[in-house]
Amino acid sequence: MENNKRPDSMERITTEALAKAFIDEQIALVKKQVGNKKVLLALSGGVDSSVVAALLIKAIGKNLVCVHVNHGLLRKGEPEQVVEVFRNRMNANLVYVDAVDRFLDKLAGVAEPEKKRKIIGAEFIRVFEEEARKQEGIEFLAQGTIYPDILESDGVKAHHNVGGLPEDLKFELVEPLKFLYKDEVRVVGKALGLPDGMVFRQPFPGPGLGVRCLGAITRERLEIVRESDAILREEFAKNGLEGKVWQYFTAVPDFRSVGVKDGKRTFAYPVILRAVNTQDAMTATVENVPFELLQHITNRITSEVDGVNRVLYDLTPKPSGTIEWE
Ligand code: XMP
Repeated sequence: MENNKRPDSMERITTEALAKAFIDEQIALVKKQVGNKKVLLALSGGVDSSVVAALLIKAIGKNLVCVHVNHGLLRKGEPEQVVEVFRNRMNANLVYVDAVDRFLDKLAGVAEPEKKRKIIGAEFIRVFEEEARKQEGIEFLAQGTIYPDILESDGVKAHHNVGGLPEDLKFELVEPLKFLYKDEVRVVGKALGLPDGMVFRQPFPGPGLGVRCLGAITRERLEIVRESDAILREEFAKNGLEGKVWQYFTAVPDFRSVGVKDGKRTFAYPVILRAVNTQDAMTATVENVPFELLQHITNRITSEVDGVNRVLYDLTPKPSGTIEWE
């Protein structure tokens, strides 16, 4: 039976020196486990899969095959950052899959949130499976499972779980972070030389902007979510809120309202801003963002993002709201 309990003797990784010792130990273990065989990894660019990738690149170099699936629901600049950091800087064996049209075609007209999530999850497995079949001689699958995943759900976490792969693709797992808590993963990521923007990023749902483009996803509203989110993040970074606020994002409903621009009537979408703080995501409070900053962000979004005529700030804690809108 696989041991899924963190050893009592394991020291909490809080310093660069402890992280380096952990990295050395894991490199030796991974080398022992996989030898000169190939390992496959779904690399989303999130903290956990990025740290696994950086660690395995150190251990086995090009024998790690990273697959980055761009499903069109990532934040602005994320797919480009994955290519820049892993292929260009770390010289990784990276397969970049542009699956944007595939996902958006499958999602067209689907308004029900759980159905959208299911389609995104199932299509992800399908794209990943196709890429896995193109690779020769894969014997292992690396996953960014971390200790809370094991504690909370028997190691099965939606966005780390490529367990939906068919029988003949059931590879032996490589899970070097499985005994680490999130803060430790970040310390290890920093020690591996990953950029701060990757290591300290806020939580981002597996189905990505798909749950923030409310109702049936359209390319127009997806673009509005992506561009307004980029403005919100830029302004939070400039104004010292990045790293202070737990999670912040924009959501776009599937209705329009009347407005006015340059003396003409408009009929355009509202953008909802959300910024919350929490310990465990079970309850959350709303960040008290300075009013002037909210006004500035509103002005930027309504003037820079096409198809928007209003911006709203969500004042609802969890409960009665949830953090996401879907
Ligand atoms: P809610 O909206 O339930 O969100 O208050 C709590 C936290 O979970 C994140 N979240 C998700 N993460 N897949 C994920 O990986 C999902 O489908 C999903 N839905 C919500 C959300 O961003 C928040 O941090």
